[in-house]
Amino acid sequence: MFGFLFFVLMAHTAYGDVSYSFPEEMKRGSVIGNIAKDLGLDVKSLSSRDARIDNEGNRKRYCDINTNTGELIVAERIDREGICGKKASCVMKQELVLENPLELHRFILNIQDINDNLPQFKLNIIKFEISESADKGSRYLLDEAHDADIGMNSVQSYTLENNEHFLLSVLTGVNGVKYGELVINKELDREKQNEVTLILTAVDGGTPPRSDTVVVTVSATDADEGQNGEVTYEFSHLSESLLEIFDLDAVSGELKLTGIIDYEEESTIELPIQAKDSQGLAGRCAVLIDVIDVNDNTPTIMTKSVKISIPENALPGTEVGIINVQDRDSENNGQVRCSIQLNVPFKLVPSIKNYYSLVTTGELDRELLSDYNITITATDEGSPPLSSTKNIHLTVADVNDNPPVFQEQSYRAHVQENNKPGSSICSVSATDPDWRQNGTVVYSLLSSDLNGAPVSSFLSINGDTGVIRAVRSFDYEQLKSLTADLTLKKTQSSVDDLERLDAEMSDSFQVVLLPAVVSL
Ligand SMILES: *[C@@H]1O[C@H](CO)[C@@H](O)[C@H](O)[C@H]1NC(C)=O
Ligand SMILES: *[C@@H]1O[C@H](CO)[C@@H](O)[C@H](O)[C@H]1NC(C)=O
Repeated sequence: MFGFLFFVLMAHTAYGDVSYSFPEEMKRGSVIGNIAKDLGLDVKSLSSRDARIDNEGNRKRYCDINTNTGELIVAERIDREGICGKKASCVMKQELVLENPLELHRFILNIQDINDNLPQFKLNIIKFEISESADKGSRYLLDEAHDADIGMNSVQSYTLENNEHFLLSVLTGVNGVKYGELVINKELDREKQNEVTLILTAVDGGTPPRSDTVVVTVSATDADEGQNGEVTYEFSHLSESLLEIFDLDAVSGELKLTGIIDYEEESTIELPIQAKDSQGLAGRCAVLIDVIDVNDNTPTIMTKSVKISIPENALPGTEVGIINVQDRDSENNGQVRCSIQLNVPFKLVPSIKNYYSLVTTGELDRELLSDYNITITATDEGSPPLSSTKNIHLTVADVNDNPPVFQEQSYRAHVQENNKPGSSICSVSATDPDWRQNGTVVYSLLSSDLNGAPVSSFLSINGDTGVIRAVRSFDYEQLKSLTADLTLKKTQSSVDDLERLDAEMSDSFQVVLLPAVVSL
């Protein structure tokens, strides 16, 4: 609902990158801006150039591009608190990738906070036991309320129910956190009143503000109940995830790591700690932890835009696909080099950052080698380095580039005269190494005349099998031999292919007729 109150702002940074500021929690599909327009890209080419968002290292894809309009839209719930926690600015680097030619545009999502979280106290009741001898002006630290929002949307003030004994003093801690102290305004007297119950309210600075209320009980203790200054330690507000990782010994104050810290999740950690004595007097501090990156992420290789089939007539240098490598580690630990094996007619050409083009380096011939198993290896520069491999199976697609060839240069058959019409004379055969219909041949006789009659009135050929038959009975006294030309055609349906590729093979076919034995 707060989305309507914000305008989406767009500004160019010093590097020419485009940045979009918009509030968290916008509905899926909401338009963030028109990135095609802002980058000066042709909207009509977005789809054919496979325009897409590749976010750097993030596993979730928060935005998408509508390739029909060029608009950047919300693809996933964007919860500022979940993504950036208490960070003052919540910036996500994103990349827009286009192919043909490969182009990469960086842009930035700047997520703004909305007041979608309530301030919250850790406990429902804050209890104090204060000696009746405590002086006017003594101060007692109140547990702070926590609000997951930031800036003005986080806790801004506290109010305390009006009462006779205590005032509220609101203070700001080192990290900007607002907290309260109970200050004795009028000494306690256990004999008159042994317990005081008050209401403490925490309010954030959002519009409208949100608040949370807690009950504070103070019991007055005897002046002589001997309590000394034993100090205990505890965390002020800490997120669930950090509570699982750090343990603070209440008595010794020793801080221990009990879980796993991940530099990729948080590179600096702040632990607010408070120390209290048994009188409720307290002090605060924050422990800042710098997490050092360790090379614990293997590079990942993404090959989603690789064509798995390349025509065998592709020229050397043809781009077969785009490889993207990512490594979530920082600096050298995240620097990745990519290679492929040497004995293949392909190479990787480094392109824009973390992208490589896979290109052919030589001519391909499906009839010699129809498959390639390419292994891509990505290695980072950490020590020790981590690497990963990915196999790409490429097939070479057929082009009708081989003419059919007869097995013999010429065929000769001998037929006795007075043969039966339809009898088989001989059979011819041809081969073609191309694939399927590109390699399927059809036999026929080239039409020509023989003694004033078409050759087809003497001979016929079965187009599929190449079997040649006599059409009529021959008479040696009239015709001692005949010659016919055979042709081969491939069963091509496309006219283009016929014109360009259908080699017509001619061959000489000769039938020699033998005299019949005359018996008396
Ligand atoms: C490709 O090569 C890799 C490594 O040599 C092998 O593990 C894989 O099975 C091969 N894949 C195919 C389809 O031949
Ligand atoms: C035959 O070759 C043509 C190009 O010459 C190609 O487009 C077609 O896909 C090929 N057919 C087969 C079955 O491989």
